[in-house]
Amino acid sequence: MSTPDAERSGAGPSVWGAAADLVVVGSGVAGLSAASEASRRGLRVVVVTKDVPAEGSTRWAQGGIAVVLGDIAGDTVDAHVADTLTAGGGLVDAAATADILGAGRDAVSDLRSRGALFDASGVRLARTREGGHGTTRVIHAGGDATGAEVERALLAALPGEVTVLAHHTAVAVCRDRGRVGGLEVVDDAGRLGVVAAPAVLLATGGIGGLYETTTNPAVATADGWSLALRAGAALADVEFVQFHPTALFVPGLVGRAPLVTEALRGEGAHLVELSGRGVMDDVDPRGDLAPRDVVAGAITAVLARTGAPHVLLDASGVPDVRRRFPTVAASCDAIGVDLAREPIPVRPAQHYACGGVVTDTTGRTGVPGLWAAGEVARTGLHGANRLASNSLLEGLVVGRRAGADVATALAGPRVVTEPATPVVGKAPAADRTVLQRAMSRGAAVGRDAAGLAATSDLVEASTVVRALDTRDAVEDAALTLAAAAVLAAAGSRTESRGCHLRSDFPRRDDRWQGASTAVTLVDDHLVLATLDLALGGAA
Ligand code: SIN
Repeated sequence: MSTPDAERSGAGPSVWGAAADLVVVGSGVAGLSAASEASRRGLRVVVVTKDVPAEGSTRWAQGGIAVVLGDIAGDTVDAHVADTLTAGGGLVDAAATADILGAGRDAVSDLRSRGALFDASGVRLARTREGGHGTTRVIHAGGDATGAEVERALLAALPGEVTVLAHHTAVAVCRDRGRVGGLEVVDDAGRLGVVAAPAVLLATGGIGGLYETTTNPAVATADGWSLALRAGAALADVEFVQFHPTALFVPGLVGRAPLVTEALRGEGAHLVELSGRGVMDDVDPRGDLAPRDVVAGAITAVLARTGAPHVLLDASGVPDVRRRFPTVAASCDAIGVDLAREPIPVRPAQHYACGGVVTDTTGRTGVPGLWAAGEVARTGLHGANRLASNSLLEGLVVGRRAGADVATALAGPRVVTEPATPVVGKAPAADRTVLQRAMSRGAAVGRDAAGLAATSDLVEASTVVRALDTRDAVEDAALTLAAAAVLAAAGSRTESRGCHLRSDFPRRDDRWQGASTAVTLVDDHLVLATLDLALGGAA
């Protein structure tokens, strides 16, 4: 048995029984923000992460952080809220959105005080524009390496008292007399252990592993959705899987596709078909800067009509493009494309889960002792389609608040949590390759009832019950449950809205206005309900 301190470097043995006040699952922007805040308030915090901390989704974020800092004439939090409501297709929770976006200035200032360096233009921070934003309000770092800088700064500022358990996968949230009692984990060598704690915060990021190509790294396998469902929490809006319009097209690629940031279009890059015709001509008056569900839908329609494997993004007119977008330039160089002179081959790839674990704006779920923040959660900020660059801001704001809220919640008299003994659970797990192929064919942009049903059948036919005693098995089981949730919610929503585009119901239906689909797990069966936009309003 090793001590938590021995694990901070991520090396060394790891079967141990330990106690903490808070276990944070995930080490991206939300998880690290929460861990720092909770530690600062005196809690003993353990961060559990599947790889090493810097390998999560945050570091791959390019565009930036959408935030109103008060130094751009005419821009206001109200205007940012209005753009978010428009992008979110009638499913955004206006009060939660005003609350989160209104806290953005303070959260960014706190991040800068921890050492994060953003690109400047003269005496103030530089801004860019992205799809769906009415003005240039997105701050960025390292040109197009914003996520990497945010992750670097948060890791560097992580209090030394925080224990990081690298190469550990969360298997299950332990329950103790009706509330959270800790987290069961398995390390990369297959050794099981339990961290006893009265509070668990899920910050596991996204669900990219559901699809063959995604902008997410390999760790994004819907683990938090599965942990939350199995602990009794609700998910909502999971049918709204956002596809980024412009991932780099690499023939035959399966897995993480390099992102080609939307900020390029904000600086003047233009989407064209292989014939040279503008992709967004006659599609939307906002053209290349329409919200990303609109642009991804338009590109998908072009690919279907022309049979081409990709469209082109012409960034040759963007001033100083190689210096301003070094990450994208390097990805293009790797496939032999000089973006300063040649158009970039792009096509949509899975990018972001707009829905997730239902929480309030402090990250509280409906399960006592369980919090969630960041992409894994659904605060109501994104609705049917997330506005570009709102996600890092949400992770910062809600992560920090969740850390503080856990400290407040634990301040009163406590039930002492007993360390539990790990038990090897079992769960249905599909073959990942079959699942990814099926989801990419039947549950991506442009779905229909027959395709969704066929996808369910294919996933089910490849499913067996497996022991949850390895990272692989835990991930496969999480993906299987998440796929079932997405398929069920997508099948029930008989309309097109935001990034849920159905070819058999191509229009928005007002009967679904303001209605979120909630998913819970009851006796191992997924149950759907309609959720009022307020937390806990399942009907
Ligand atoms: C991008 O840079 O295009 C992605 C930003 C985001 O997903 O918000």
